[in-house]
Amino acid sequence: MDERQLVEQAVAARKLAYAPYSGFPVGAALLAKDGRLFTGCNVENASYGLTMCAERVALFKAISAGAREFQALAVAGGEAPCAPCGACRQVLAEFAPDLMVLMADGEGKQVERLSLGELLPRAFRRENLPP
Ligand code: THU
Repeated sequence: MDERQLVEQAVAARKLAYAPYSGFPVGAALLAKDGRLFTGCNVENASYGLTMCAERVALFKAISAGAREFQALAVAGGEAPCAPCGACRQVLAEFAPDLMVLMADGEGKQVERLSLGELLPRAFRRENLPP
């Protein structure tokens, strides 16, 4: 799957978003190293703080299906390329510190590309925990 296709998968996943409160639908598409693709959308809640971002939905689907290594993530939302929030960066760094992240607007027209290390330098990692 090439980068354009991965962005298109995020754009398609965005159409399934449940975002009645923010009105900001987001889609994500996460490509595992074994070739499997996991998509996600944001899922909001009337108790706003329980909202889950598209990126973590995709990642948790992947982890719960047994995937552990990832090649790339595409995120699509808004009118300008959508960057993953800080919480998602930290959760992604647990599994894929070198992940390539493609950030797109909601229609996938503008795409920016940064590594997760660039988006979250010096992440807190398990090595920081006591032995
Ligand atoms: N959101 C995501 O799903 N991913 C992001 O990268 C940024 C924010 C969601 C959370 C909330 O449902 C809505 O976008 C507005 O913040």
